[in-house]
Amino acid sequence: MLCVFMLCVFMLCVFMLCVFMLCVFMLCVFMLLCVYVVLCFMLCCVCLCCVFMLCVFMLCVFMLCVYVVVCLCCVCLCCVCLCCVCLCCVCLCCVCLCCVCYVVCVYVVCVYVVCVYVVLFMLCVFMLCCVCFSIFDVWQPLLCVMDTEIIKTVLIKECHTLFTNRRDFPLNGELYDAVTVVEDDNWRRIRNILSPSFTSGRLKEMFGIMKKHSSTLIKHLQKTAEQGGTVDLKGVFGPYSMDVIASTAFSVDIDSLNNPDDPFVTNAKKLQFNFENPVFIIGALLPFTMPLLEKMNFSFFPDSVTKFFYAAVQKIKAERMINQHKSRVDFLQLMMDSQKSDQSDKGKETHKGLTDHEILSQAMTFIFAGYETSSSTLTFFFYNIATNPEAMKKLQQEVDRTFPNRAPVLYDALVSMDYLDAAMSESMRLYPVVPRLERQCKKTVEICGVTVTNTTTHTVTHTDNTQTATNTTTDTVTHTDNTQTATNTTTDTVTHTDNTQTATNTTTHTVTHTDNTLTVTNTTTDTVIHTDNTLTVTNTTTHTVTATLLTLIIL
Ligand code: HEM
Repeated sequence: MLCVFMLCVFMLCVFMLCVFMLCVFMLCVFMLLCVYVVLCFMLCCVCLCCVFMLCVFMLCVFMLCVYVVVCLCCVCLCCVCLCCVCLCCVCLCCVCLCCVCYVVCVYVVCVYVVCVYVVLFMLCVFMLCCVCFSIFDVWQPLLCVMDTEIIKTVLIKECHTLFTNRRDFPLNGELYDAVTVVEDDNWRRIRNILSPSFTSGRLKEMFGIMKKHSSTLIKHLQKTAEQGGTVDLKGVFGPYSMDVIASTAFSVDIDSLNNPDDPFVTNAKKLQFNFENPVFIIGALLPFTMPLLEKMNFSFFPDSVTKFFYAAVQKIKAERMINQHKSRVDFLQLMMDSQKSDQSDKGKETHKGLTDHEILSQAMTFIFAGYETSSSTLTFFFYNIATNPEAMKKLQQEVDRTFPNRAPVLYDALVSMDYLDAAMSESMRLYPVVPRLERQCKKTVEICGVTVTNTTTHTVTHTDNTQTATNTTTDTVTHTDNTQTATNTTTDTVTHTDNTQTATNTTTHTVTHTDNTLTVTNTTTDTVIHTDNTLTVTNTTTHTVTATLLTLIIL
């Protein structure tokens, strides 16, 4: 209807415009005629001809008037029409706007309603889970353990069998191969290389470096005290920790206490774990979005920071390769040496060193794991001492006893200070920088009368021609090739028995099928190639693993 109306208005406008043009044209003609008549009057004397001309003239004037009126009407009409058109356009715009507003409103309301329902649904699921399992980390069911016997079993006795891994939390970015992230054999391998860095002997070696940076810290504090100023403890313990880590880990001396703008410090500060990080919130609330976030290169650690540290460590490492580092053995050198021993052990397969990327990741882990923890622990300790004068007095007495007359601080004397040790432990108990340890349980077990369940569902579907094998929950895979059966036990070892042939799949998903004399090895990619005599059968194994693991927390 609106369109038809608009069309009519438009046609009318065009018609009026034509009339107007005609009028103008006629007006011009009559104007010329008038001019002609006036000229005639002026040139000739009064005669009959003039009378005729006068009549013509009068007619002209009359016509002129008529045309002027018509013209004016046309113009007015045109204006009216034009106004109509404008009005229509405005109306149309309004209608459009209304439509858009309406659509937007409906959309917003819909989204809102959907969100409310999703939240309500999630809450219902959450409450249901809470009723069944009691404790959750958003969606992750937890079993909190405080019994020392169970803790011992989890962290020591069964560490390498059942409780090797921490929770699988992606979005680690470049740190995907850090010791804190990797699992099972990879963790064992990296941990074995790093462990020598943390022996008491190694700490004793590093004591001198720590003392050097401690004296810089004391000088700084003394200066502030003399000036009567106040000290932001985190502000001084942060650079102190960074100095100690940088020199013990990479033999790099950065006096960050006096250079607060040192890029090592500014970047390390950005590594602090932030619970308000939107990526963390989304990942925790909607765990199913994590693979997508990972694909989109989202990470907890800012890209610029990882790039900075990777470049810095890479540079130090490259310099050492050229100049053969001799001064002292630091964490980085131990990791680089593991590469060398790996090369010399080649063929024996006794020891596997770290790759270049793994070295960079571990180096960055030291910064990440050591900077915030050490500086916060020191800050809390000094706060506790300052707010407990009695404890401070006792500690002062112990210091005076151990190092009389301001004797130099020695490692052995320091580790013998029981009250200091107790005070530090109590401070860490009151304000733990890492409030809990966590491990994933690989299978359902009973520890000291408590059943720790693993609700993992490992569904493995093997399609060999027409055969299908499904592995559910218990990690047992049954392959039915005609009459043969293969079993995969909890350790991820798959034994395929095809008549006399045996194939083994170890934890790293390495599948070795020995059919007659032929061996086929498949690593990591989960693609299994079966070779039966001369026949190669490609098995498009689908390893769908849905893990709902019960996390064990040790408080
Ligand atoms: C007061 C200071 C520190 C505290 C409270 C602390 C606490 C912790 C805790 C609770 C864990 C987890 C242990 C587990 O899950 O079994 C851990 C792991 C780790 N920490 Fe520290 N840490 C501190 C300082 C450092 C420093 C200075 C470094 C390195 C220079 C460091 C490097 C590591 C590494 C590499 C791991 C991972 C070990 C693994 O996965 O096997 N930490 N730390």
